[in-house]
Order: sequence, then C-alpha cells, then structure tokens
Amino acid sequence: MMDDSARVARRVFIETYGCQMNSADSELVAGVLRRAGYSPAARPEEADVVLLNTCAIREHAEERVLRRLSELARLKQSRPELRLGLLGCMAQHNRVSLTEKAPWLDLVAGPDSYRRLPELLSRARFDPAVDVRLDRAETYADMVPEHQGGVRAFVTAMRGCDRFCAFCVVPYVRGRERSVPPQAILDDVRGLAARGVKEIVLLGQTVNAYRFGEVDFGRLLHLVADVDGIERIRFTSPHPSDMSDSAIEAMATERKVQPWLHLPVQSGSDRMLAAMGRGYTVGEYLGLIERLRTAIPGLALSTDIIVGFHGEGDTDFRATLDLMRTVGYDSAFTFKYSLREHTRAFRLGDTVSEGEKGGRLAEVIAQQERISLERNRRLAGERAAVLVEGPARRGGGMLAGKTPQFKTAVFPAVDSIHPGDLVTVCVESVTAHTLQCAVASADREFSDSVCT
Ligand code: 5AD
Ligand code: SF4
Repeated sequence: MMDDSARVARRVFIETYGCQMNSADSELVAGVLRRAGYSPAARPEEADVVLLNTCAIREHAEERVLRRLSELARLKQSRPELRLGLLGCMAQHNRVSLTEKAPWLDLVAGPDSYRRLPELLSRARFDPAVDVRLDRAETYADMVPEHQGGVRAFVTAMRGCDRFCAFCVVPYVRGRERSVPPQAILDDVRGLAARGVKEIVLLGQTVNAYRFGEVDFGRLLHLVADVDGIERIRFTSPHPSDMSDSAIEAMATERKVQPWLHLPVQSGSDRMLAAMGRGYTVGEYLGLIERLRTAIPGLALSTDIIVGFHGEGDTDFRATLDLMRTVGYDSAFTFKYSLREHTRAFRLGDTVSEGEKGGRLAEVIAQQERISLERNRRLAGERAAVLVEGPARRGGGMLAGKTPQFKTAVFPAVDSIHPGDLVTVCVESVTAHTLQCAVASADREFSDSVCT
C-alpha cells in the first residue's frame, strides 16, 4: 500500500562530484528513484529532495562538498520540508563525523545502499537515515540506470577495488571488487544503442580486472563490440598489473575499441611505486607500454601522477618527470598527495611540504603541456575520424567531437553534420588540448591518410 507521501509527485535534484563512476552511480540513483515515483528537478530550489553524490579521493574534494552543504542548509532553513542527503564515497568515508559536521542532513547513504534509497527517504521524514553498509555482492545488475542523453554513455562493468594502494581510500569506501554480469552490461548497451548512443565507456576502479565466470575483460570487449549501432568503445581505468594478453588482443583486433588508454602510473620512481604498493616497477610498466604500442599502432596514452607522496625526495620526483618524457603521454591528470584517513599511508603522515608539493605539481603540469603540444603537432596535416558531439565549448559556429585517440577536434559547423555523425577531418593547427580541423567536402577532398 502507498503511504500519503507516495501519492504526491516528488522531485529530486542530484548533484555529482568526482569521477565518472560517480556520474554513472547518479544515473543509477535517478533510475531507482524514478521507479519509486520521483521525477527530476532542474534546480535545488525546485526539488523536494536534494542529493549530493560525493567523492573522498582527496581532502579538497571533501571540502568542496562541505561548502556546498552549508549553502544547501540555508535553503533548508527557508524550506524545512526539503530533504537533504549525502551519497557516495564521502558518505561512506565520514559516516561517523558527518552527522556531527552537518546535523541538518536527513540522509547519509554509501555506494552499496542505493537500492534502499526510497525506503531510507521515507524514513528520513522523521529522523536522519544512515545506511553505509558495504555489500560484497551488490552490483545493481537488475537496476536500469537513467542514462543522460548524448553520443557517449558510461556503463559500469565492475565495482570496488581489491588493490589497496597505500594512498587510496577507494577500497575502504567502495568495498571489494565485483563484476557486473555480462548479460546486464549487454542489455544496458543494447538499450543505449537503440537510443542512438554511439560510444560506450566501460567503467570500473580497476576495470580490466573484470571477470564474471568465463568472461574476462578481453571477452567483454568483444561482446560489447558485437552490439550493432555502437561505433566506439573505451574503458577507464585499467590497472597496469591487470593488463592481460586477452585485453591487449581485444584492443588490437576489435575495430570498435579505440586506440586510447588511460593507464595510471602514479610515480616514475621504483622506491615510490613499492611504497605505494602499486605492484609493478618502472621497467615492467615500460615493458607493458612497449607491448601495447607494438600491438596497437597510433595508441594514445594518458595517466595519473601523484606528487609529494610520503618519502618522495627530489630524485624520486625527477624520475617521475623522466618517465613522463620517456612514455610521451598525450595527457596526464596530476595531483598533490592528500593524506586520507583509513589508508595504509595515513599513519606515515606527510613528509613533503604543501609548498614543495605545489612546486612539483607546477613542474609536472608545465612539462606535460609541452609534451602534449609536441605530440599534437605531429598530427598537423593528418586526417582523423571524428565522432561529432555538438557545439564546441567556445561556440563561434564550431562543432566539436573526439578523434579515436580521444583528442578534442573542433571544426566549422555545417548544416549536414549532426551529433552522432562520424566525419573525416583534416587537422590544420593544434594546441596542447585541441585540434583545429577542416571537414572534407565537395571542394576539399582528402587522400587516404594525409590532407591534400
Ligand atoms: N592523494 C592524491 N591523489 C590521489 N589519487 C588517489 N588517491 C589519492 C590521494 N590520496 C589519485 C590517483 C588515482 C586518481 C583517481 O586519483 O592518481 O589514480
Ligand atoms: Fe585506488 Fe589503487 Fe584501487 Fe586505483 S587500484 S582505486 S589507486 S586502491
């Protein structure tokens, strides 16, 4: 039987912080709540329920959410019936202190509690509801996410992480590794293809550790590639130690799997890699890069780098700069080490000052800008296939899309080109982040690989 509250149309606003897994989880939550009778609100001011789906990976991420929470607390003061909830990694991480730091919260729910959200929300009408149980088996395989529209969609392939890198809070807040059954992934992908989605990004904290029965990650890539209508497949983030021959084979042979890999290395110093518990040496990582580049011509690589981890000396830091040049990454996400409670490295504390971390970060960023620019310059005068996404961010009558190597290409809009189209462009000029292109047209034909 429905209670009174269920009869009234309720509106929910979900704000997402952090990684793509969180964006995918927000789509899952939107699906759970839609089926329970909630509809989406465009702004917090129009919502009966506001949920923040949060990130705990660095302190900075948590501080942003706390600031946002105080703003929303003011909104709640003027509308006491508003229900305010915190979801995701920060809910799991700060489960004890949160209800003290933010006593106005009605709901605190961790990443394995989303199935119970409707029930928790109805309980939260009287007392705050807290559910942060981690569940080794929860994959939400039977829950259909409410995907946002677009050319690209994110599909969760596995959840959690078993690696316990010394700096990382993920295994504590997202729990043990578990893979989504292939059938559930394929049902989702087929539904997306039917709605016109062209590109699938498979997600997981260590996505290439995927295994469900006989289906390993390489096999999963082949299965997704068999879905008609899907043109491109990517995945993020793989762990270097899980990069199996089967995954490399699938990348090399499956036309739809794009020549792009985000392969977090974290540091270029063997001493730091060992202290971080990453499970590989610089030599092993470089060996993997060589195997990948041999198997997949034109492979673009990006990475994650942490500067200022416990014990990082100048020699270790220089080794990271060297490694970045040796690999020649197309792009890199770079972070100052942030001490996280519960992690193995937490009790070791910080040895690198905030100022030194800042200096090192500036140096890796400046070096990466030079490398990215240099790599993009090699593409000038070449052709590329671009999956069109929509108007370029800077507008100006330009369209934007991605090349197979996940580089942003912009080109003049013409009426005959729409989002979801695959067009051939010629790269005319480049910056470190963007390729300025021209589209092949009746008066501008391009030959096989270079522009004429
Ligand atoms: N401090 C800084 N960066 C971190 N990352 C994970 N944990 C921390 C931390 N405590 C970075 C890693 C990871 C990316 C998602 O976030 O580089 O690959
Ligand atoms: Fe964190 Fe390491 Fe797991 Fe990545 S592999 S989520 S860095 S513990």
